[in-house]
Amino acid sequence: MPAISIDHVSKSYRISRKDPGLRGALKALVRPQFQEKRAVEDLSFNIDAGEIVGYIGVNGAGKSTTIKLLTGILMPDSGQIRVLGRDPHHERVANARAIGVVFGQRTQMWWDLALIESLNLIAKIYEIEPQRYRQLLDQFSTELELGELLHVPVRGMSLGQKMRAELAATLIHEPQVVYLDEPTIGLDLLVKERIRAFIKRQNHEFGTTVMLTTHDLGDIEELCARVIIIDQGRLIYDGPISAIKARFGRYREISFETSGAIPADIQLLPGVEVLSREERRLSLRFDRNLASASQVASSLMAQVEVADFSISEPDLASVVKQIYNGALRDQLVAA
Ligand SMILES: Nc1ncnc2c1ncn2[C@@H]1O[C@H](COP(=O)(O)OP(=O)(O)O)[C@@H](O)[C@H]1O
Ligand SMILES: [Mg+2]
Repeated sequence: MPAISIDHVSKSYRISRKDPGLRGALKALVRPQFQEKRAVEDLSFNIDAGEIVGYIGVNGAGKSTTIKLLTGILMPDSGQIRVLGRDPHHERVANARAIGVVFGQRTQMWWDLALIESLNLIAKIYEIEPQRYRQLLDQFSTELELGELLHVPVRGMSLGQKMRAELAATLIHEPQVVYLDEPTIGLDLLVKERIRAFIKRQNHEFGTTVMLTTHDLGDIEELCARVIIIDQGRLIYDGPISAIKARFGRYREISFETSGAIPADIQLLPGVEVLSREERRLSLRFDRNLASASQVASSLMAQVEVADFSISEPDLASVVKQIYNGALRDQLVAA
């Protein structure tokens, strides 16, 4: 049984619509007009226990809506959701015990309480066994460097401190499934590293299933073997991170070493540009949609004597950037 299963799920928001002006306001009062906004459309995927999956897509793609459906905050219009075998909406209380969720910059803790008081309350609410609680508190304090923070109210914390506190509060009841919606947004590299290490260890040690929404390439590279990409509420990719590069890497680099000097007026095919040139060395970048590596190579060999050439792997950073620019849509159409 997968830890998370989403089966042909769709979800629309109903947005009230009104024409401008007083007339519109009155009309809306008498006969409210609604518009449907499709946020998730016919979405299906499974996540096994112990996986860390990156959930990515442009702003508005439907990532947060999916997480809200999985936590039971929202109910799907159609399709079926199971988290650890439960319907998260209809079995919300049981579901809440087994999951943890962090929504980016929004805290779920009590602003005026010192962190330790928040954690003590959570321990009571979740009925965490006292000895286990002390043990976890110790461990989390070390790993997330909470030490002096324990006695500071959340209100007074910096963004990075808040996120470390938030992670402790979310994971102290040892949820089997954790949803993290942009956990590293706005944080400096050191804090990011600490948070990644923490997530990784939770996953390794306890087999915690993690679904992670992030714009951060480092998060993805360091944590996620598998990614799910959604666009306009639909799944467009589900698979290993390595295969994304091959599938979505639009730009490739090709470098030539020549035996003779490279002519100044060398002709390039459409979609090809020069990255760097020296007397006998030329690096080009080409758009896979416009030219193939062999076309680029043979066009060059027709103009200059080539001694050697190499094609580099597309780099993941540019692929992820394309994903977040929404450029994949065009590529899928072109494919
Ligand atoms: N409460 C809401 N009411 C109406 N529309 C919403 C609401 N929340 C999200 N949406 C819309 O649903 C779509 C998906 O949003 P969301 O799930 O927040 O995307 P993401 O987290 O990927 O940025 C967007 O078009 C967004 O404008
Ligand atoms: Mg979101």
